[in-house]
Amino acid sequence: MITSKEAEVIFSSTGKLGVSRRQYGRIYVNGTRYSADPIEVEQNFRRLTAIGEKHQHKIGRSIFRGLVNEAVMQHILDNDLRSCLEVVLPVAEFTGDSSWLVYLARNRSERGLIVSREVMADVISKQKKEIIPPLERVQSTLERGYTFTDRISEDQVSQVYALWGDTFGWQYQEIDNLRRRLGVNRCKDPSERDVWFTAIKDNGTILSIAMAERLSIPTAYGQLDLVESTEWRTRDEYAGNGLMTATVAVLNAQILSDFQDNTNGLPLIYAECNFQSRSDRVGHGARFLIPEQVNAAQILTQNVRVRDGQPLEDTKLRDFTFMYLPIEAIRMYYNPMQTEAIVQLVT
Ligand SMILES: CC(C)(COP(=O)(O)OP(=O)(O)OC[C@H]1O[C@@H](n2cnc3c(N)ncnc32)[C@H](O)[C@@H]1OP(=O)(O)O)[C@@H](O)C(=O)NCCC(=O)NCCS
Repeated sequence: MITSKEAEVIFSSTGKLGVSRRQYGRIYVNGTRYSADPIEVEQNFRRLTAIGEKHQHKIGRSIFRGLVNEAVMQHILDNDLRSCLEVVLPVAEFTGDSSWLVYLARNRSERGLIVSREVMADVISKQKKEIIPPLERVQSTLERGYTFTDRISEDQVSQVYALWGDTFGWQYQEIDNLRRRLGVNRCKDPSERDVWFTAIKDNGTILSIAMAERLSIPTAYGQLDLVESTEWRTRDEYAGNGLMTATVAVLNAQILSDFQDNTNGLPLIYAECNFQSRSDRVGHGARFLIPEQVNAAQILTQNVRVRDGQPLEDTKLRDFTFMYLPIEAIRMYYNPMQTEAIVQLVT
């Protein structure tokens, strides 16, 4: 018999506010307050990495993620913390002020990169020029006889487990918990929803799936809704046909449709894209953008494991490209009319 607690747990990539021990030897802080004090941020991060050093047998990576003001950003850039910057994103387009979303991280030396940061930064900077607008991509997927769904039916839990279990580490029970949580979310007011799911099906067979999870983080005057688009998985034999790009486009539309009347304004939809499987290409196709690579390479190094079939030792962790959906892209490709047109196509 599973406990009510076990019945709620899902394999969360996004995490909760505050400090938490996370899979693959990580100690992770999602800032519980807006960071406006440079010294306090520095002291907190040094305390965090000191915990990592003290528990070297259990912790190989220490991460702080949160919104900081201009003074904190400048302080980080002016001292050795600069070398710990993995992600730097100005969020004025979402918050209306000069705040920055930062990921500060330190890995133990043996948690080494697969290829150098410079090589990764160069490779991901080269993306396809020609763009298929998301709505068109969704329509062409339907014309191929496939359908989109936003839920997991009871008899599909095993199919989702076959795609997410070994690849990302989900337990069967966690997928069944997600199935029910999606059901509960459908009864909620759209602006209150916190998980989303999209799958492409060929009759009853699931070909491509992705999910999204919400985490509201403190800003200077309120909250910003982070929504992580994650768990991108296409059946191996269907790879390279634009299916994941279409799935991620529909997921974006579902999220944005639910946020239309949200008091916090539009969400910051982001994705941490497995570099080894080049899922940044999917992000690019769905109109995600890699922030400017000036103060950071926008890469999370050796973050978690993904069994992506790449020719690497099984225990080797993966590096991830940070991408986000800019307000400009939402205006051009996911405005309310386009979003509604896409959401109508989901059965
Ligand atoms: C990464 C993954 C999700 C991609 O799924 P997919 O359905 O093959 O993705 P798409 O076909 O939509 O590919 C996106 C784009 O990359 C292009 N592409 C794919 N493979 C390519 C290759 N080897 N060379 C050049 N372009 C390629 C596609 O043509 C497509 O371009 P388009 O915009 O013209 O359609 C899938 O391979 C997978 O599940 N990998 C294992 C798990 C994983 O790593 N997930 C990502 C976690 S963040």
